[in-house]
Amino acid sequence: MLVAPSILSADFGILNEEIKAICDGGCDLIHVDVMDGHFVPNMTIGPVVVKSVAKIATKPLDVHLMVEDNNFFIDLFAPLKPEYISFHIESEKHPHRIIQKLRALGIKPAIVLNPHFNPDSIEYLIEDLDMVLLMSVNPGFGGQKFISSVVEKAKKLKELINKRNPACLIQVDGGVNNKNIQELKDAGVDVVVAGSYVYGADNYADAIKSLKV
Ligand code: DX5
Ligand code: ZN
Repeated sequence: MLVAPSILSADFGILNEEIKAICDGGCDLIHVDVMDGHFVPNMTIGPVVVKSVAKIATKPLDVHLMVEDNNFFIDLFAPLKPEYISFHIESEKHPHRIIQKLRALGIKPAIVLNPHFNPDSIEYLIEDLDMVLLMSVNPGFGGQKFISSVVEKAKKLKELINKRNPACLIQVDGGVNNKNIQELKDAGVDVVVAGSYVYGADNYADAIKSLKV
C-alpha cells in the first residue's frame, strides 16, 4: 500500500517541519488538498504555499483539486511539477480534455469520484488515467468519518480497471486509519490518503508504517 499523508491536517505554523517529518517518516506521496470555496465549502492553500512545500519535499506531490475551474487551477499548479493532479468528475464538463491537457504537461492525470458517484460512468476514461481517487468522505474537511460503501465501490472499480487499464491505480481519501486499511487493501486499493490519522499521531513514521499493509 502506498501512503499519501494529507497536509491539510498538518500544523501550518511549522509547515516545513511537518513536511520533512512525513518525508523522513516513509510516505510515498504528499497529498495537497486545494479547495476554492465554491466546489466545496472550504478554502485551503494556493500555489504560493505549495511552492515552498515543493522546495523542501523529498517525495512527489499529489495535488487534489476540489475546485470549479479545473483549467485555471491546473495552470497555477503545473509549474510546481506535481506527480499527479486529480480533479473531480462532478466539476468538469470535459474530463477527457482535462486529461489530455495534464498529459501534455507531463503530469499524471487522476479523476476523483465523490461518495455518490458510480464508477461505471468513467469506464471509457480509465484507459487514459493513471489513477482514480474514490472519496470515502464528502470533500471539504479533514477528520470526517469513513463512508464504508467505498470498499464495495473499489472492488467494482478494480474489475473495470483490470478490463480497461490494469496499470491504473486506485486511491482512497477520507477517514482512513489502521482499522479500515486491511479491507481497503483486500478490495484492491493501491494508495491511501490519510490526514488526521497521520498528523494526529504522536509518531508520524509509526502511523505511516501501520498503513503499509
Ligand atoms: C477531504 C480531503 C482529504 C482530507 C483527508 O476533502 O480531500 O484529503 O484531508 O483527511 P482525513 O484523513 O482526516 O479524513
Ligand atoms: Zn484529498
